[in-house]
Amino acid sequence: MSVIVAPPGLSNVVVTDTRVGDVRGDEGFYQYRQYSAIELARTMSFEEVWYLFVHGELPDSSELADFVTLTRSLRKIPDELGSLLRTAALAGTERQMLAGLRTVLSAFAATHQIVPMWDSGPEQRIADSLVVSAVTPTILSALYRIRAGEDPVDPRDDLSVAENWLYSLTGVEPTPESARAVEQYMIATIDHGFNASTFTGRVIASTGADVVSAVCGAIGAFSGPLHGGAPDRALDALDEIREMGNATDWARAQLAQRSRIMGFGHAVYRTSDPRSEMLRDIALSLGGPLVDFAVQVEKEVVAVLAEAYPDRNLYANVEFYAGVVMDRCGVPRQMFTPTFAVSRVVGWCANILEQAEDRKIIRPIARYVGPPVA
Ligand SMILES: CC(C)(COP(=O)(O)OP(=O)(O)OC[C@H]1O[C@@H](n2cnc3c(N)ncnc32)[C@H](O)[C@@H]1OP(=O)(O)O)[C@@H](O)C(=O)NCCC(=O)NCCS
Repeated sequence: MSVIVAPPGLSNVVVTDTRVGDVRGDEGFYQYRQYSAIELARTMSFEEVWYLFVHGELPDSSELADFVTLTRSLRKIPDELGSLLRTAALAGTERQMLAGLRTVLSAFAATHQIVPMWDSGPEQRIADSLVVSAVTPTILSALYRIRAGEDPVDPRDDLSVAENWLYSLTGVEPTPESARAVEQYMIATIDHGFNASTFTGRVIASTGADVVSAVCGAIGAFSGPLHGGAPDRALDALDEIREMGNATDWARAQLAQRSRIMGFGHAVYRTSDPRSEMLRDIALSLGGPLVDFAVQVEKEVVAVLAEAYPDRNLYANVEFYAGVVMDRCGVPRQMFTPTFAVSRVVGWCANILEQAEDRKIIRPIARYVGPPVA
């Protein structure tokens, strides 16, 4: 049997067909279904784009109203998960909210009697994907508040996804400006090609497992700093630079000790990241000293990276300005990556459901390079 040896990291290997979205790294462009993702983020609500991911088309006004009513009704955490929620909230460090999320979601799947996709039809799978996406922000904000010594706040069905997210974290209704800034960030991060968490979710879906198992696997992949875990680290870096007083020296020192500079570089983009450009615009419209400082740091770090890697085209990625925007909108630092998860769960679900239609298991092979059998 002939074998194909894939390159490290499976770079540039096409492993499936998809109608969910696409990223054209050389052009600095990405799309959701048949639309420019950035255009959707600039002009649509999160719920409209969520509908697009689920149904493949944008909704008309009555479809949107029904979708909004339905998804808002699915936000509540069942009472029987209260004690597990407390245990998960108080375990681990404050930046391990994603571990808490996958723990509570696993139990949530059991209380909801979510069945393997192998045994369920398309309608049931969509229903499961909506409930897991709708409850994810409620679980995350409850974990955050319990850990902070406060009671979780009940989700409100008169608030949009972004408004409710900010409200459920802080207990205070956000300003329209903050809610829209976070909503645009959330839309822009729903999906992004065949990244590590999406691939992981699809591998699990290909076994015929249930939607929540696939989402939990995706969360695990997403929790690593090379993937979803960087926006808080990018803001930590801004703090360090402020203390040191000079971004260029700081960046050179990072490279000298072979550290990665969080919030810069991308596995696919060889131009600037279109999400970071949109978020820079949003940050500039919000204004403030942190925003001005970030713009200056971006310039200097890009110049240092260009000096060190002249052929690589390393620029700010989505996470650099994400941290700045979220900070400006009152999202606590440990909830930056969880905010990313609140939107990305919608993209994972669309990919998981698409994979479930293809009943072929994903099963590559490895080359054995260990010692021979003695
Ligand atoms: C995103 C990332 C994992 C992509 O990795 P990748 O596909 O291997 O990146 P590239 O092929 O473009 O990079 C190759 C070289 O540039 C260097 N490089 C890339 N991004 C860098 C960064 N942010 N800081 C320092 N060096 C970087 C790599 O170390 C590598 O150098 P080497 O060949 O000497 O090891 C990487 O850019 C990174 O670690 N960035 C920081 C973490 C981050 O912001 N993650 C969020 C992503 S949205």
